[in-house]
Amino acid sequence: MTGPANTTGRIVVITGAAGGIGSRLVDRFLANGDRVVASDALPEALAQWRSGYPDDAELVTAAADVASEEDCRSVATIARERFGRVDVLVNCAGYFPFTPFEEMTADGWRRILDVNLTGPFLMTQAVLPLMRDQGWGRVVNFGSGSVYDGTRGQAHYVSAKAGLVGFTRTAARELGRYGITVNLVTPGLTVTKAVRDSFPQEILEAQRLGRALQRDQEPEDLVGPVLFLASPDADFVTGQTLNVDGGKFFT
Ligand SMILES: NC(=O)c1ccc[n+]([C@@H]2O[C@H](COP(=O)([O-])OP(=O)(O)OC[C@H]3O[C@@H](n4cnc5c(N)ncnc54)[C@H](O)[C@@H]3O)[C@@H](O)[C@H]2O)c1
Repeated sequence: MTGPANTTGRIVVITGAAGGIGSRLVDRFLANGDRVVASDALPEALAQWRSGYPDDAELVTAAADVASEEDCRSVATIARERFGRVDVLVNCAGYFPFTPFEEMTADGWRRILDVNLTGPFLMTQAVLPLMRDQGWGRVVNFGSGSVYDGTRGQAHYVSAKAGLVGFTRTAARELGRYGITVNLVTPGLTVTKAVRDSFPQEILEAQRLGRALQRDQEPEDLVGPVLFLASPDADFVTGQTLNVDGGKFFT
């Protein structure tokens, strides 16, 4: 293996980087001495988000809709031109609206699959040459604990995230020969600002009570598991799903 032998100085591409969980990941990789290509959908919002970091932070932004093949290729081009390689890809972008099954349209269904399932496929393909050439790489996909309980109103999203289990296992098998691992993290309901603003307190309380560890799940709770999967400590871990939900009981 010719890639990074330690856990710092890596080139890390993160989609959904301006989001609740993505931005905590950016903070941690930067604090760790890594360099980050932070991607998110809206150029203005991404620029606004970037302005919260010092100018000299090892942080480059790349606006992209992960559902667009061209946009994903442009993120890889930015990473290549700026840093010459990619060590870690975190497919964190996600879009999770609620739509009752009977009101779900085919177009709505397709869009959610495009963002949540096709997006990680397109991003992984786009950065693949930049990992393959160095014989080392880490792909961490973001699934969702909703696949275990079939969250109401999210047939499209739950189906897309369940698809990522299969994508992760097959991609792991095909890319292992290049020293690339592919794993999946499935968070429980995580109290980002968007969740805090939009979910009723009763739902958050029910989540707390349904866990072995009876507190809110915070974005920071996903950071350690992702850092582990991105590290050489996880060299022999691939095709796996790491469920991070505080020990939720399914009764
Ligand atoms: N918050 C939770 O409770 C929870 C639970 C399970 C799984 N997840 C997953 O964790 C990941 C991060 O979620 P979060 O809670 O930080 O959500 P968030 O909404 O705070 O962040 C998601 C980010 O993805 C970006 N995004 C949406 N559509 C995009 C597109 N087409 N192209 C590029 N970027 C796009 C958004 O702009 C946003 O910045 C997602 O994949 C989500 O499905 C979240």
